[in-house]
Parts: sequence; structure tokens; C-alpha cells
Amino acid sequence: MAETLLEMNDLHISFQTFAGKVKAVRGVTLALQKGETLALVGESGSGKSVTCRSMMGLLAKNAQVEGGEILYHGEDLLAKSNKEMKHIRGKEIAMIFQNPMTSLNPTMTVGKQVAEPLILHQKLSKSAARKRALELLQDVGIPDCEKRLNDYPHQFSGGQRQRIVVAIALACNPEILIADEPTTALDVTIQAQILELLKTLQNKVSTSILFITHDLGVVANVADRVAVMYGGKIVEIGRVDEIFYNPQHPYTWGLLRSMPTVDTGDEDLYAIPGSPPDLLAPPPGDLFASRNPYALTVDVHYEPPLFQVSPTHFAATWLLDPRAPKMEVPEAIAARRRYFLARNSGLIKKEGLT
Ligand SMILES: Nc1ncnc2c1ncn2[C@@H]1O[C@H](COP(=O)(O)OP(=O)(O)OP(=O)(O)O)[C@@H](O)[C@H]1O
Ligand SMILES: [Mg+2]
Repeated sequence: MAETLLEMNDLHISFQTFAGKVKAVRGVTLALQKGETLALVGESGSGKSVTCRSMMGLLAKNAQVEGGEILYHGEDLLAKSNKEMKHIRGKEIAMIFQNPMTSLNPTMTVGKQVAEPLILHQKLSKSAARKRALELLQDVGIPDCEKRLNDYPHQFSGGQRQRIVVAIALACNPEILIADEPTTALDVTIQAQILELLKTLQNKVSTSILFITHDLGVVANVADRVAVMYGGKIVEIGRVDEIFYNPQHPYTWGLLRSMPTVDTGDEDLYAIPGSPPDLLAPPPGDLFASRNPYALTVDVHYEPPLFQVSPTHFAATWLLDPRAPKMEVPEAIAARRRYFLARNSGLIKKEGLT
């Protein structure tokens, strides 16, 4: 049985704005296990960044935690002071932000930036920190790094800068690394390299990774488990093979259908119809109902609970209620399943955590 490192229970977060209250996170329950890679997937505005910023104590000023807890080693992170969170941030829980270019200081040499958390959190001397910084830069694959310690961020390529950000995040061997779409600004080959790098480093340091993306395809071969988020809620969660081979939620079906890399004979790239839900005045019922071709009447009135599909797999769709009409998986999804199975080796981790 895997050890649970962090547990988020029924988290609710909203933002006060001029237009009213934005209900960004609406009851998220999530557990991160030791050494696993959990992918949090969902379209823009679904609440991925807000959810993980809450774990770092880095919510915007107009944010309000309206309920829930985030237990880390049995203590609620939401009850911690700024000062206490400063000790946890970077040292125990590190984060790679959505825009890597802005997370480096342009006026400080790269060597100093990698050494800084080591001096601050691990109390290393300047020379020891510099030595360790060099090793870290080597680990993340910066060529000739000995000569480059005194260079500034702008002297590195986009991909190299992202590697430097990874080195800083891993400097203190954090228990948890949150990577918030660390690759959106980079081209696909570099994306693949950075993901590969995170995987390799994870084997070395056994950090748990919470990997955030809006692209389900990206996580197929890096994640152990996948949580699909929609309108501030987790609508489906399971082992990566369960999500790819046996998806249950129509929103997950939509995400799978919109994966661009899959050659299943569809001529046009599928896009989920409609737009994200209004979080200022959410309608009653399931927020996905208006975009869901498989919605039932009940969806318009009541939000579905998470139904259990397997001990590790849950989905919030009324289609799983025993009273729902029996329905075949749509052909487009069945085709993808066949495709994934045919190409299984290397595409999807065969087993998740046990
Ligand atoms: N400071 C803020 N004030 C008001 N609303 C906010 C604030 N920060 C986030 N939101 C709203 O909260 C919701 C969730 O935002 P979040 O940044 O978590 O989305 P996301 O899933 O990370 O999207 P993306 O893929 O675009 O990064 C959105 O509707 C967003 O507009
Ligand atoms: Mg985001």
C-alpha cells in the first residue's frame, strides 16, 4: 500500500471580483502518494493552478478558502502562517510555475540562483552550495555548466532555462514537486525532453510529482494516475490505464477525442463544443451538462457524486448511476481504446500504483 503524502479534502476556493464571487475550486478531494506522478488535466480556467497554488500558500490576495483542508504530514497547510509556509515552500514542496521565463531572476547569475535555496534551506556554505549547484545543473543536462555558472538567464535557450528552473526546484530534494504546465511555452521536442528529464530525476530522488497540463496526450507516458478537472471539480480520477482504456466521464471522452496525436481516421481534430462554465453564477446541476451530448435530465438539476468504478477509479457522472439507461461507449472512444491497446508498449504505463 502506497503512503499518502498529501491529502486535500473538500477544498473550496473563491475569488472576490468586481463582478462578484468566482467559485474557482468547488470541492476538490485529492491524495498524493509517495513517489507517484499524478497528472491534473483540464481545460483553461478549470482551476488547476488555483488548486496547486493553495498547496504552496500562494493564493492571490482576493482569494478566499471557503472550506476544506490540505493535510501534509498530518498538519493542515491552510492553517499555517506565511512564515511557516516559507519554510515548507521550496524545501518540502517545490513548484515550477506556468511561465518559466518569469521564474528566473534576469539580474542574477544562474549559479547564484541555483545555490540560493541551498544556502537558505539547507544551510550550506557558499562554496558547498556552489559545488552542489554545479552537480544539479549537470543532472538537468546543462552542457559545460562549470563555465556557465556566472552566466545570466538570457544567455541560455528557452529549453535550457526550463532545465535550470527544474534544477532550482529540485535543489533541496523536495518531497513534492508541482509542475504547473511547465512546457506550454516550449516546442514539442523540448516538451518531451523536459518530461523525460522529470521522469529520470524522479527515479533518482523519489519525489512525488503533481503534473498539471491541459493536454491529456502529454501525460500518457509520464503519469501513474490522472485526475480530470472541470469547472473547479475533479470529475474523473484513476490510474493512467483506467483513464485511457476505460474512461467513464463524457468530459474525459471529449479530452481523449481532442488528442491531436492519435491517428484513428478522424479527419478533423475534435473540439469539445461550447465554452467553460460560468463560475460567477454556476447553474444548478452538473456544470458540464450544457456541453454534454450524453447528459440526462437529472444532470440539469443535481450535481453527480463521484461513483466508484474500481478501487482506484472514480467518475462524477450520472451515467454510472444504476438507474441510468445502459449506454455503449461512443465509437470514437472505442476506436481510441483499440488504438491505445495496439500501441500499448511505451505509450501508457501498464500498471499504476498498487
Ligand atoms: N486572482 C483571481 N481573481 C479572480 N479570478 C481568478 C483569479 N485567479 C484565478 N481566477 C479564476 O479562477 C478560475 C480557475 O483559474 P486557474 O488559473 O486555476 O485555471 P487553470 O485550470 O490553471 O487554467 P489554465 O490552463 O489557463 O492555466 C478561472 O475562472 C480564473 O478566471
Ligand atoms: Mg493554470
